Amino acid sequence: MAPALSSNSQAAIIASAFFVPVLTYIYFTRNQQKSSAGPLPESTEITALYIHPIKSCHGISVQSAKLLPTGLDLDRQWMWVTYPNHEFLTIRNFAKMTLIRPSYDAQTDTLTVTAPAPDSIDEKLEFSIPAHPTEAWLNEHTTKNDAKIWNQFTPTRVYSTSLTAPFNAFFGKEVRLVYKAAQYDDPRPLRSNGAPEILGRDASTCFPDLMPLLVGSESSIAELNTRLKAADNLTIDVRRFRPNILVKGDPSAPWDEDRWKTLRVSPKGPHGGKPLVFDITQRCARCRVPNVDPETAEEHKRQPWDTLMKYRRIDEGITYKPCYGMLCVPREGGKIKVGDKFEVTEVTSEHRYIAGF
Ligand SMILES: *[C@@H]1O[C@H](CO)[C@@H](O)[C@H](O)[C@H]1NC(C)=O
Repeated sequence: MAPALSSNSQAAIIASAFFVPVLTYIYFTRNQQKSSAGPLPESTEITALYIHPIKSCHGISVQSAKLLPTGLDLDRQWMWVTYPNHEFLTIRNFAKMTLIRPSYDAQTDTLTVTAPAPDSIDEKLEFSIPAHPTEAWLNEHTTKNDAKIWNQFTPTRVYSTSLTAPFNAFFGKEVRLVYKAAQYDDPRPLRSNGAPEILGRDASTCFPDLMPLLVGSESSIAELNTRLKAADNLTIDVRRFRPNILVKGDPSAPWDEDRWKTLRVSPKGPHGGKPLVFDITQRCARCRVPNVDPETAEEHKRQPWDTLMKYRRIDEGITYKPCYGMLCVPREGGKIKVGDKFEVTEVTSEHRYIAGF
């Protein structure tokens, strides 16, 4: 005959019989809530990298780029502003800005900026500047002045008009070119979903609208293009959305990026270096800029805006705008290449756009 259990043991057995199922239930429901954004997607790869040295001007496709904590090196470190107010100028006010083409010569580390000369069919406006100027060069050729981007003022260097004056005719008004380098001047702190109390750290950028980087997916553009083809016999290039990092994505799961939260990029192959980690802050809510063809600066009256408005108003924080692409902040600097492995390491059902300005 088994010895009688002490009253303590009896209490323990009764307690376990009651608590174990309850705790198990709580554990599983919590895990389900955590995974309500669904399983992680298969890894994919980076298919293109774009830098846009001057805000709103033509972009450059590159095979590799240096990643800084503020974004890709040379991406949106320059910006045209009004004079004398130093307020930012974008495609939103002046679609022809996309005809201004910066090009980069790595051998001489020079940025050359060209634009079609007004009232001429073959002449070009042009000037060249150091792509990574020293502080001594800046002190000699620029003056310090804050520039206004949205409602935020940030310290910049203003280039001498001896370089940029011919561009006044292109804009049809007096303008200035400004530069920002995190190593010389105060940073432009992130706001919106990138503010320190939300992101969990201090981060900054140069002249993008909101965040250091925009990630886009080919599978989503392909899905959008099937709709544009049906609606208006039209297909568009992803460059209209001005992404920095383009990934292949899963062709059977377009728009999966809507729930991506944390990303890891690592070189392919057995000798891959240290992976880079990115925090997605929010979806990118779009204006009508993608209606402008960056090659011609022609603006389509309807597309893709009308189509996007029909099915991509998916963010509760900004229901009056459609979304394409995900905005993100790198955790560190490094080197990033076309062909790199691209993994989503965390997904979320909690993305909600916070207007920053
Ligand atoms: C669609 O556009 C292409 C060229 O852009 C043209 O050749 C074709 O005829 C158009 N189709 C229709 C149905 O309008």
